[in-house]
Amino acid sequence: MAFSHTTSTSTSPKAVLFDAYGTLFDVYSVGLLAEQLFPGQGAAIATLWRDKQIEYTRLLISSTTAGGQTNAPFYKPFWAVTLDALRYSCAKLGLDLKADAQERLMNQYRALSAFPENKGVLQALQTTGIPTGILSNGDPAMLNVAISSAGLSGLLNHVLSADTVQQYKTHPSVYALGPQALGLPAHDILFVSSNGWDALGATWYGFQTLWLNRQGLPFETLGPQPTHIATNLNDVLQLFNP
Ligand code: LAC
Repeated sequence: MAFSHTTSTSTSPKAVLFDAYGTLFDVYSVGLLAEQLFPGQGAAIATLWRDKQIEYTRLLISSTTAGGQTNAPFYKPFWAVTLDALRYSCAKLGLDLKADAQERLMNQYRALSAFPENKGVLQALQTTGIPTGILSNGDPAMLNVAISSAGLSGLLNHVLSADTVQQYKTHPSVYALGPQALGLPAHDILFVSSNGWDALGATWYGFQTLWLNRQGLPFETLGPQPTHIATNLNDVLQLFNP
């Protein structure tokens, strides 16, 4: 077994949902272009951009759940949040983000590199007949371009977007899209994410979870642990072997 951790109570999942950004698509691959545009700052831009993007989704969740805040933006699609985060990151790093560089970086984000093992894993899952899908903060237009540019079209039965409920993970209404679309209880669905906070939120919601720890990080200490911890997407297939 390649899993570094598995809880003993899990039963065989009947479907699998993947997080998109960071799990299927490499959000740090934008660092290469960022480095060309702003030498010496590529990695810093990529890291800050991602952190700020997620922070902004959390701010938006708070504004939608607090109520009565007439000046709160209440919801912005993930594409708009991603642009806001890029602008903030460059400002924070003291970089002058001109319109052309902004457009190039956003276009790069639209077609992020996929992790190399993804396609084979999705193809293998298709042959088992296990329903698969994406459950992501990304808005539908972003997700559809990312899927087709990564060559993953036709390999996912469901593309579920937080935009449908105008909320963001870890709000339960977003995770609820999974059971609704699949017609299965959460505990029969495996949710796979390389984002520790997302694997934790999905565990709270009641999914079986697999945290894909590609970067050798500690898991969130808030608790509880995810159902499984693995280091490569191929490990997902072990859960569906007869
Ligand atoms: C997603 C981001 C949060 O795809 O990774 O939902």
